[in-house]
Amino acid sequence: MKKIVVLTGAGISAESGLQTFRDGDGLWHNHRVEDVATPGAWERDPELVLEFYNQRRQQLFDAQPNPGHLALAKLESRFDVSIITQNVDDLHERAGSTHVLHLHGELKKVRSTVDPSLVYDLEGWELNMGDCCEKGSQLRPHIVWFGEAVPNIIPAVTMARSADIFLVVGTSLKVYPAAGLLEQVPDGVQKYLIDPNANPEYYVSNLHVIREKAGIGLPALVDELLKG
Ligand code: OAD
Repeated sequence: MKKIVVLTGAGISAESGLQTFRDGDGLWHNHRVEDVATPGAWERDPELVLEFYNQRRQQLFDAQPNPGHLALAKLESRFDVSIITQNVDDLHERAGSTHVLHLHGELKKVRSTVDPSLVYDLEGWELNMGDCCEKGSQLRPHIVWFGEAVPNIIPAVTMARSADIFLVVGTSLKVYPAAGLLEQVPDGVQKYLIDPNANPEYYVSNLHVIREKAGIGLPALVDELLKG
């Protein structure tokens, strides 16, 4: 079975109603990264950080996978598919994809601030000050903040290097180390980039750019790959 590796970003969930980060109406236009998504923010004002992620979680409960997520799940009928996502939502899993690696954490999980190995599924959407792990310390969002290590980049690089076909969907490719994954894919491998605002200046070999929304471009590409 041929191996398809997919790198996704916030754009694939935009048509499910979740805001991206850097588009005109993106989250980073209304919130400062250093106020809500860094270890320093957590030290200075944990309530604000919790509130930011509680809002994201509440929105996720109302969101459903869109045709882009569903198309990727369908690819598994003929290919060995691995998804590397920068997204913290669970829309790939809910669409039916079975191999999803989260680079930046998962919104529906929380973890201990004294023992990072203690990770829990959160019931409901709200995490508050005073919610503690079994060792009695405050729980934090299970999110990789700016300035923190990205442990899953190691398996992600291995996946990118082993791809027979590589897809990139809905990411501005501005945040490293995730953005560097495209360069890890061997030169001869066919690559596709689906993004309505894709930067025309990617100097990567064998890259086919599809300037469409994921909900349109992905089902069409998946149909083509399934036929081919
Ligand atoms: P960005 O907001 O940087 O980029 C979103 C991309 O999606 C842009 O290139 C848009 O053109 C594209 N886009 C918008 N609507 C789309 C649609 N319907 N279909 C396809 N593409 C669409 O989001 P990311 O690249 O995911 O990290 O951002 C990377 C990381 O930066 C995030 O994981 C997050 C953020 O800060 C953390 O919070 C650690």
